[in-house]
Amino acid sequence: MAQVSSMDDTLLLIPGPTNLSPRVRAAMAGPQLPHVGSQFYSMFKETVALARYVFKNEKGAQFVFTGSGTIGMESSVVSLVAHGDRTLTLMNGYFGHRMLMLNQVHGAQAGSIDFTEGKAADPDTLRNELRKNKYSVVFITHVDTSTSAINPVPELVEECQKAGVISVVDSVCAIGGVPLDFDRLGADVVFTASQKALAAAPGAVLVAASQRAIEYMEKRKSPIESYYLNLLRWKPIMDDPRMYLATPATQVIMSLREAMLEVKEEGIENRWARHRKLGEMTRDRVEEWGQRFVAEEGHRADTVTSFWVKKENAGEVQGTLEKEHGIMIARGLYEERDKMLRIGHFGVLTTETLRGALDSLDRVMKELGTIPSGVKVTASGKKR
Ligand SMILES: Cc1ncc(COP(=O)(O)O)c(C=O)c1O
Repeated sequence: MAQVSSMDDTLLLIPGPTNLSPRVRAAMAGPQLPHVGSQFYSMFKETVALARYVFKNEKGAQFVFTGSGTIGMESSVVSLVAHGDRTLTLMNGYFGHRMLMLNQVHGAQAGSIDFTEGKAADPDTLRNELRKNKYSVVFITHVDTSTSAINPVPELVEECQKAGVISVVDSVCAIGGVPLDFDRLGADVVFTASQKALAAAPGAVLVAASQRAIEYMEKRKSPIESYYLNLLRWKPIMDDPRMYLATPATQVIMSLREAMLEVKEEGIENRWARHRKLGEMTRDRVEEWGQRFVAEEGHRADTVTSFWVKKENAGEVQGTLEKEHGIMIARGLYEERDKMLRIGHFGVLTTETLRGALDSLDRVMKELGTIPSGVKVTASGKKR
């Protein structure tokens, strides 16, 4: 597996973007290719095939196009939801809330269940709600990056299937680092972005859609109210990338192709296992530091870890770690900026690099009085 690139890079332990491998960097550095030429055509075809591999999607439609994760969110809303449709968004953090807003912006009668920050969405609550009220689409966040909580996606999707409701999964902070098997899951739309666990440059969105979702879009009574975000418009381009819809960010696509080749060489299951170790290693340290996780036990993701900083000096910790150790971690969002730290641990990160970074964070937090200096951590990361 590729290592994080040269020593002069800041080690990015933010929840995306993540460091790029030397191969992925090199993939972006060549001459400008025409998007209509045969070289880019075959690279694009390969990129879509590799996307199928990372999603485990053989049965559904697969899309790759230019845009960030928010384009994945908005294209699924616009393509599936007509004005006045009743939709349900499961919320337990910032990105669930964004999904609700997108539903509102596009004219849905947008309902939501707020499971509160850090708590996982509960399938029984969803089942009861789907029995009580009729919805056309349910929106689920796989890992809400703002809290690091991972939702029980298979159980939630099963409830949607039983109720005959279309399900959409925002897997931006999960795919590539957390198990997901699109064909077996049975969700209707699942999407991710290039800059997180797939470890490519930001700027590409990857969407898988079931045949049912495609038929649902085709049979809509009102037309899809977007040009660029209309998934049905992108479908023929995926089959024949020589057809023109909009100029792709060719360098980003090439970085994504190279990054997914690396995923395939590592093996997707091995990659999930490595991320599990990265997650466990980080969670062990947070426990040793005596800080409180934002996500509830049993629902902590292997791609990102968030914890409350009792001393409320997250900004100071983040700044010192970057200045003195060349490592960047993230803080909480908005009013939680000083109260929360978030460590992204995905992509091509190795356990050795992460261990060293957590040691540096340990030192900084002791120096700044964030954690008591008496906490001794062994080289293996275990408390003595
Ligand atoms: C779960 C989740 N969904 C959506 C997004 C939005 O992605 P982007 O910032 O690439 O638009 C993010 C970004 O961090 C995310 O973590």
